[in-house]
Amino acid sequence: MAMIAVQVVLEKLASFVAEETRFLGGVRGGIVELLDDLYSMKSFLQDAEERSESDQGLRAWVKQVRDVAYDAEDILEEFMLRFAPSHESGFIHHLRNSYRSIRKLSARHRLAVQLQSIKARVKAISERRNAFSLNRIDMPSTSSATVEKWHDPRLAALYLDEADVVGIENPKHLLVSWLVEGEEKLSSISVVGMGGLGKTTLVKKVYDSHPIRRSFDTHSWVTVSKSFASTELLRVALQGFLVTANEPVPDNLQSMTDFQLIDALRNYLWRRRYVIVLDDVWNVNAWETIKYAFPDCNCGSRIIFTTRLSNLAESIENTSHVYELQALLENEAWTLFCMKAFRGEHKAVCPPELEEMSRNILKKCEGLPLAIVAIGGLLSKKKNGGLEWKKVHDCLATELKSNDDLGSLRRILQLSYDNLPYYLKQCYLYLSVFPEDYLIKRMKLIRLWIVERFVEEKQGFTMEEVAEEHLVLAFSQSSKLGGPMFFLFPFESTSKK
Ligand SMILES: Nc1ncnc2c1ncn2[C@@H]1O[C@H](COP(=O)(O)OP(=O)(O)OP(=O)(O)O)[C@@H](O)[C@H]1O
Ligand SMILES: [Mg+2]
Repeated sequence: MAMIAVQVVLEKLASFVAEETRFLGGVRGGIVELLDDLYSMKSFLQDAEERSESDQGLRAWVKQVRDVAYDAEDILEEFMLRFAPSHESGFIHHLRNSYRSIRKLSARHRLAVQLQSIKARVKAISERRNAFSLNRIDMPSTSSATVEKWHDPRLAALYLDEADVVGIENPKHLLVSWLVEGEEKLSSISVVGMGGLGKTTLVKKVYDSHPIRRSFDTHSWVTVSKSFASTELLRVALQGFLVTANEPVPDNLQSMTDFQLIDALRNYLWRRRYVIVLDDVWNVNAWETIKYAFPDCNCGSRIIFTTRLSNLAESIENTSHVYELQALLENEAWTLFCMKAFRGEHKAVCPPELEEMSRNILKKCEGLPLAIVAIGGLLSKKKNGGLEWKKVHDCLATELKSNDDLGSLRRILQLSYDNLPYYLKQCYLYLSVFPEDYLIKRMKLIRLWIVERFVEEKQGFTMEEVAEEHLVLAFSQSSKLGGPMFFLFPFESTSKK
């Protein structure tokens, strides 16, 4: 997919520019211009790719865009590899540095010349675009805007019947005790885990439970999400407290400023024992911008965060506990799967002839409730029993890519993917060149990443060591993103040329 390939290159170039500003000197402006041109061209790529199947000319155009992006990357990479500032120190380093500075001047000059030629190529390719009357489709760099538009199935997590929830008794009990017992001063609890693991589901059940309703004077639930606006968060928080306490909401709520909202919250919460949930937090700034609204009056008040980011809790000063939510156990996953896949007359019982296939499909979900619910739901609609099930079983990756019923699952996990650094993105994408269920050997993958030039040089480390680090990171991220990430991301290869 040229689109993804170009996006990856663009992110890489943007990060060069951001990180090496001083070092790039006068050529920085040229690179920024080039980036702008490439971004602008990328907005036509989606339309071009969709129509390129039947149009040879368009296919060639898409290839030109991809190639010019890669060439721009190559030039910058070479420049950085040879002349990036070293981190040595001392007198010898000083001498070496003076010598390198002279060479850098000429390298910058050469870079400026090469950039000019790339820019001329971009301009020419861009002009050729007019012949195809392409439509501009601006893709946001993160999918937050998209996420707001589609119907978010996670809403379901807020309204699940107790009977539809499995495996939360122990964590629920623990969270309730952390909230109700313990110190008098204001403290926070974070529930951490990858997308679709059931954080919102669990915390909502805790929030609605009798001990919590009984022990706190007032409650509020705020869904934060990636694209939060602080005024809106404050407004929703205030409204939540007032509504749950059956108190009147101010007429001017919609026009209140941040200061007014913070004052109103502080006044209302003072001397009350309150609990507030901040669900789906992606950035500590979301908390930093609203935290003054929540006073500590030694009443045992609590703030609960749910987040996919395990390090977020560390940035919140009054964290008392972090709960790392785990995937469902095998028997819990099986119960949930049967509940979803065998509805109605089957009464959540798997017919013996489907058991082996069901267990194989379930294995791929790795205990992730969102995947189990989505795939179980999809299978429940398959009328033709064994045959259709076999199709899903054999081609889960293809099914995920094309089946509308699984679109929400795709998008939720895409959100985590968007949040990865660019170098891990390309490593992930590369995995899709392997067939489904293929056992990938560690060393082979490392060598392939190096050959594909996904691995950058790092001082003091061999390329293999850096690649190994990517691998470890990729797998540790995958436990936040979704162990089943690899089958959930059936992207096409972005290998170069
Ligand atoms: N314990 C559970 N029992 C049954 N279904 C569950 C359970 N946990 C989650 N689910 C199902 O998975 C879906 C996703 O769960 P939820 O929204 O709670 O995940 P999350 O961890 O909050 O994800 P995100 O990081 O995207 O916010 C729910 O809508 C629900 O259908
Ligand atoms: Mg959630």
